[in-house]
Amino acid sequence: MPETITITDNRTGDSIEIPIVNNGVSAAEWSKLLPGIWFFDPGFMATAACESAITYLDGEAGILRYRGYPIEQLAEQSTFLEVAYLLLYGELPTKEQFEHWKREITYHTFIHENVRKRFLEGFHYDAHPMGMLVSAVAALSTFYLDAKGIFDHESRQKQIIRLIAKMPTLAAAAHRFSVGMPFVYPDNSLDFTSNFLSMMWKVAEPRFEANPVLARALDILFILHADHEQNCSTTAMRVVGSSHADPYSATAAAAAALYGPRHGGANEQVIKMLMEIGHVDNVPAFIEEVKAGSERLMGFGHRVYKSYDPRAKIIKRTADEVFEVTGKNPLLDIALKLEEIALQDEYFLSRRLYPNVDFYSGLIYQAMGFPLEMFPVLFAIPRTVGWLAHWQELLDQDSKLARPRQVYIGPDARDYVPMSQR
Ligand code: SDX
Repeated sequence: MPETITITDNRTGDSIEIPIVNNGVSAAEWSKLLPGIWFFDPGFMATAACESAITYLDGEAGILRYRGYPIEQLAEQSTFLEVAYLLLYGELPTKEQFEHWKREITYHTFIHENVRKRFLEGFHYDAHPMGMLVSAVAALSTFYLDAKGIFDHESRQKQIIRLIAKMPTLAAAAHRFSVGMPFVYPDNSLDFTSNFLSMMWKVAEPRFEANPVLARALDILFILHADHEQNCSTTAMRVVGSSHADPYSATAAAAAALYGPRHGGANEQVIKMLMEIGHVDNVPAFIEEVKAGSERLMGFGHRVYKSYDPRAKIIKRTADEVFEVTGKNPLLDIALKLEEIALQDEYFLSRRLYPNVDFYSGLIYQAMGFPLEMFPVLFAIPRTVGWLAHWQELLDQDSKLARPRQVYIGPDARDYVPMSQR
């Protein structure tokens, strides 16, 4: 059987046969047969917006691979900074390449003093740190005017390094501002994740010493959150990037998309949901409210995974190691009960709703002492790597400007009516 499809326009009897290539069918081909007719696909449920070689998902089998490497192996054996290199450049770095990469990132962690003193500290005292982060990333575009040189390879690489390196600094600065603590400068003697913890938690001690179990757990969480193919925020990155905006403006748009409770804001909502449920005994009643449509089981469901999110499995294991150090998060029992009941209930099984990456990650963040508002920020730090990898890929592919069509359902042509006659 040929690997093709045939579309027939029954109004004219005309047909076109189109090859199926890499599980894709070219829209340019069928639009020749159907000028002015658009495939209606709100939410892009069945639309491939690009070709990409970065991340592979199989939602049915619960498979996630970065550049072909299974997420389970990377979480077990790699580090976030090495995974960042892999996502951006397509191969695991040699020792020499990694040392150079680590040095580049380490020495770009500082932010311009005006960003902190005049910008971040200008926010209202109770500003949400994710709102501060989105704004600060956009503001960086005004500090690095060379960033508009997106086809200058050296400039592009410099902005990529700056963004990855400065995200933890901006994130920690937003937190320190929101709790009234003094800003902590990056400590270049620490690794990427320990330096972030130092900027978050250092008080009066001369040098912050991260608990190695917690630092490793956070590094694993960063690996798991680094990329996820064409999710909502990465799509935002690609759409804005396709206009050839600078990478700071595109990254700010992606971070804004991640802020939404349906996407990266879900981890914060999961904890609020667990706190609202309050006790294991209240779980059955909450499940009934979800089934009645008056509540949503945050941290469950996924556009692609119709089985258990492979990241959630790893996070659940990591939680046990963290709780050994921090003590068990009391909300864990409620989460476990929710999962136990939901995975036996027809409502969730028929809709193929399983725990996703956000269901357990918040329990770890909370046990580590991160305030709820910091949870989407903790998602944005690693996902910046994925956004930039896709941004770089779309530029290398010389992608077209993103400009979808629509199905118009508004009024037909009509004449203006003067105010006196309305
Ligand atoms: C992330 O895309 C990515 O890769 C995202 C991400 C990444 O790494 O970038 O994986 C990160 O965003 C994970 C998802 C985090 N969001 C949440 O946990 C919020 C709760 N989940 C949902 O709102 C929902 O599941 C979505 C938004 C994640 C996916 O929704 P879809 O694919 O648009 O599916 P849908 O809303 O059409 O739901 C299908 C059915 C509906 O029921 P019916 O109308 O058929 O009766 O399932 C129901 C929905 O009501 N449903 C849920 C539910 N999620 C879907 N019902 C209760 N609780 C839920 N969580």
